[in-house]
Amino acid sequence: MAGIPKEEINRIQSQANIIDVISNYISLEKKGSNYFGVCPFHGDKGPSLSVNETMKFWKCFGCNKSGTVFDFVREIEHVSFPEAVKIVADKIGTKIDGVSNVTYRYTKHLEALDFAMKFYQLNIQSKEGHDAKEYLLKRGLSEEIINEFEIGYAISKPDNLSKILLSKGYDENILLETGLANIGNSLYDLFRDRITFPIHNADGRCVGFSARIYKDIDEAKYINTKETPVFKKGNILFNYHRASKEASNYKYILVVEGQMDAIRIYSSGIKSVVATMGTALTQKHVALLKRLGVDVILAFDNDNAGLKATITNGDILANEDVNVKVLRIKDAKDPDEYILKNGIDSYKAAIEHSVNYFDFKLANLKEDKDLNKIEDLNKYINQVIKELNKSNDPILRELTINDISNKYNIDKQVLLNKLDDIADTKKVYKEVVTLKEKKEKLDNLTKTYRSFIYYLLNDIKYIQLYNQELGYLPDKKYDEIAQEIVAFYLKFNYINMADFVANSYESDFQEELDAIVSDNLGLKLFDNDFIGYIKKIKDIDISSRIKYLKEKMKNETDINEQSKIMDEIIKLKKDGK
Ligand code: CTP
Ligand code: MN
Repeated sequence: MAGIPKEEINRIQSQANIIDVISNYISLEKKGSNYFGVCPFHGDKGPSLSVNETMKFWKCFGCNKSGTVFDFVREIEHVSFPEAVKIVADKIGTKIDGVSNVTYRYTKHLEALDFAMKFYQLNIQSKEGHDAKEYLLKRGLSEEIINEFEIGYAISKPDNLSKILLSKGYDENILLETGLANIGNSLYDLFRDRITFPIHNADGRCVGFSARIYKDIDEAKYINTKETPVFKKGNILFNYHRASKEASNYKYILVVEGQMDAIRIYSSGIKSVVATMGTALTQKHVALLKRLGVDVILAFDNDNAGLKATITNGDILANEDVNVKVLRIKDAKDPDEYILKNGIDSYKAAIEHSVNYFDFKLANLKEDKDLNKIEDLNKYINQVIKELNKSNDPILRELTINDISNKYNIDKQVLLNKLDDIADTKKVYKEVVTLKEKKEKLDNLTKTYRSFIYYLLNDIKYIQLYNQELGYLPDKKYDEIAQEIVAFYLKFNYINMADFVANSYESDFQEELDAIVSDNLGLKLFDNDFIGYIKKIKDIDISSRIKYLKEKMKNETDINEQSKIMDEIIKLKKDGK
């Protein structure tokens, strides 16, 4: 890969304000000298992500991820490091100098996918696409909607798209890696004689397709792009790139199963809607939804699978403190059919009447029971308590217990006794203990080296002291990092942690460097501590050298050599004192 000059990485980093860039993705609030926001990389309840403007670093205290502005963009956009640098450069309105043709990792893939999307769009307007288009029109999708959603048609010829992509200079690997083609005896298109629905990432780039049959044939209804470097089902929600811009106007986001449902709802005027495309929500999906800061309304199909999906996904969302609501329809199989049958106003009313997830769950527990029967009532109440024990909302507990106590005339104390009061405390305690164990496991020596390197990264005076006193580290991994820091200092005549980290992308010690920063970020620097580390490292060095010499002596037969080794051991022991 053509590299971006280190000087350019440093320049862009110094010009970019990390707060401004990260604020493009999540909202940050200033508290003390740091900014805080809800971490988009794990199901954060907090705001656990802290950003330091002057150090140009961010760190999440929940998932422990940390890094520079480039790392944040890389992580959130799912792009390579050079692409992240380019995105940051674009955001601050500067060009990267010295690179006329950087080949960004997935640019070609995305270009090929975009080409395929447009190619399919042309096809649906052609003679061959006539029947496919008729099918869509019959289903009530207008010409306008077909265009807006960039719906297309893949003709039945086995290598129609592959041939043209190859002729345009995309190589076989790109075709295979985007999932647009497969290889058997020869290359063939994955989508043939199907309607194509492009699927976009959060940036609005086409990353894959879902392709539907339109004739009455015995084949899978949909064929989708497999997992590829740019299409990760667990990261993508259909229509998110459009809906994310609309959610705040609606104060909610609808989550449906099928893309046809999303298209129907969106084109009927409710633009805050995404589709899961039939999978369970992942932590990444939850983070995408949570980022919108609105209620999430689950509006799945009106069948058993839809009910199950509501509960699975509702639990996942509620666990992450998302305000979840449920919309169940009757007399229609899915939202698409419902709207065609009853009109959008009726669906809007149903949205208004969507119920709280917890209430929905309790109502659902009653479904198969006759609460006049003692046996069923007992079962019901125990199930409700089980649900309450899962929740960490004390108000919800209080209200529900009061309600049951009144409704079924049961002593409140009896119910309260069944509540696992310490569930929360237990959970928190467990987390603290495992954290502590983890910390202790990270052995003392690693800690010393990590802090030592951290000092080097933060002030040239420590680099100078290190050069005078040690000049190398007895541990190969840390020695390599120290050498690189010295080289950076000699080359640029300054040291800056963010610049050094950004300059070390794809180096062998990238991971260790992340740990060094993450473990120590915010550490106050004291000269005496640094001197203490030097002493400790010298001691380690001496004792490991002595151990080595003693081994050597055992195997040495020449008496003169033995005496030389002995002298060195004695000298080392003296030095150590
Ligand atoms: N799905 C799939 N493969 C299938 C069936 C479904 O990938 N064989 C995914 C599709 O993303 C689909 C979603 O699961 O949109 C929901 O499935 P379903 O409810 O069966 O599809 P609908 O959205 O109702 O599709 P249509 O109205 O076109 O029949
Ligand atoms: Mn449907």
